Amino acid sequence: MRHDSILILDFGSQYSHLIARRLRELGVYCELHACTRAEEALRELQPRGIILSGGPYSVYEEGAPHAGPAVWDSGLPVLGICYGLQEMALAFGGKVTAGEHREYGHAELTLHHPGALFGGLPSTLQVWMSHGDKVLELPEGFQDLARTANSEHAAIGDLRRNYYGIQFHPEVSHTPLGKTILKNFACTVCGCRADWSMGSFMEEAIERIRAQVGNGTVVGAISGGVDSTVCAVLLHKAIGSRFHGFLVDHGLLRLNEAAQVMDRLRNRLGINLTLVDAGELFLSRLQGVTDPEKKRKIIGNTFIEVFEEEARKLGNAKFLLQGTLYPDVIESISFKGPSATIKSHHNVGGLLENMNLQLVEPLRELFKDEVRALGLALGLGEDTVYRMPFPGPGLAIRILGEVTRERLAILRQADAIYIQELRDAGLYRHIGQAFAVLLPVKSVGVMGDSRTYEDVIALRAVQTTDYMTADWYPLPPEVLRRASNRIINEVRGVNRVVFDISSKPPSTIEWE
Ligand code: XMP
Repeated sequence: MRHDSILILDFGSQYSHLIARRLRELGVYCELHACTRAEEALRELQPRGIILSGGPYSVYEEGAPHAGPAVWDSGLPVLGICYGLQEMALAFGGKVTAGEHREYGHAELTLHHPGALFGGLPSTLQVWMSHGDKVLELPEGFQDLARTANSEHAAIGDLRRNYYGIQFHPEVSHTPLGKTILKNFACTVCGCRADWSMGSFMEEAIERIRAQVGNGTVVGAISGGVDSTVCAVLLHKAIGSRFHGFLVDHGLLRLNEAAQVMDRLRNRLGINLTLVDAGELFLSRLQGVTDPEKKRKIIGNTFIEVFEEEARKLGNAKFLLQGTLYPDVIESISFKGPSATIKSHHNVGGLLENMNLQLVEPLRELFKDEVRALGLALGLGEDTVYRMPFPGPGLAIRILGEVTRERLAILRQADAIYIQELRDAGLYRHIGQAFAVLLPVKSVGVMGDSRTYEDVIALRAVQTTDYMTADWYPLPPEVLRRASNRIINEVRGVNRVVFDISSKPPSTIEWE
């Protein structure tokens, strides 16, 4: 079943993705596309209405992006936000000017024509402004709907054609009633039913995979993290054993991780997943390497080599699964056009060119928390859905200095103890990421009657929403004490444990 939907055309605003989020929270399906793709996107999506996002440009600027005739010829309702409003004004003969006072921050909007867009709202409301240009003269057929102290035409509309333009940003949390405005546009003006949910997304995603792949074969590297697991389950449901997943064990996984992932995905979920045991190869190439960037490069290149060799053995794969999420797409879409839209995952990017594969990206429209919701809708357990992220280069970037089998064994054991303690204390779900790090120094200690000179383990725990910034997590002292005691008593070769109290920036989450 096709859902009622809204097309959002992105003119490059930092808030564009928030428009998409808000609509989906309302149960209205929508897609965000570069504004240069208006025509194709309208054809593919068949939306009930269009939203033009804000953007960093000035409409008269040379090279400024424009919506193009497809938008205005579609006959669909249009809501222009900020730059989108100015674009609308320009298209219908209005005048836009660089505002004498840049308006940035809170403003009070006074409605003088509530109508459909502002239905159910009080006559004054707090809104968030962020613009330099503003509409000076109304375009033909438009009337003023609301004003602020600095913007006479803060909201305008052509009620006959269902065109609305607003100078403020309804999608940000600083416009507390903004969601109602978006709902009024989508549901009242455009007539969308708010019937979109993860369950419906799941069915559509499966159908889309089938349509794209036909009788073809898809290969994919599966790590067992939430994104790749959700992808693998979708592919399995869509095309069964024509999906070939590979878990490349680079010898840098955590304690028993490969076996656990195989058990969960292959044995219990029936996914066609092959374990590729390549630990020897990775470790031999990492021998003597201590520079973090060199480690990453060696691991990345070897990963591609190993995966490619396995995929080639199948002979007939035409498609490559990639767990691209919406934030990755947003980062790379802009008015510059579709050529900029593909951002290859660092682990498998090279394969696309070498093997001439086409991408299958079932999570392309989703935010991380939506992927988790999809995982739950697919019947995956909370253990999988709320797993902490684990970096592609694995424990190699948590062993400072050379990566050896012995050092891997020490770190694996310490990390497993630490994570177990966090789970037992009921803290695992509250922490963004936590792990142990093996430092490249030894320190003096005393055990029994003898002096020791052994390794140091650092414990890291951070809280974060986006992993771009992070703060260290204040673990309760008793949890730290238990973890430290157990690590020093149970892990041979460790006599000291320290806790990392650095935030990002200026530190990073990983140590390398
Ligand atoms: P940093 O250390 O840059 O990490 O603060 C931010 C997040 O990214 C993860 N990370 C990686 N993930 N391949 C990955 O798949 C990598 O090379 C990589 N490096 C860092 C890190 O674990 C954290 O969640």
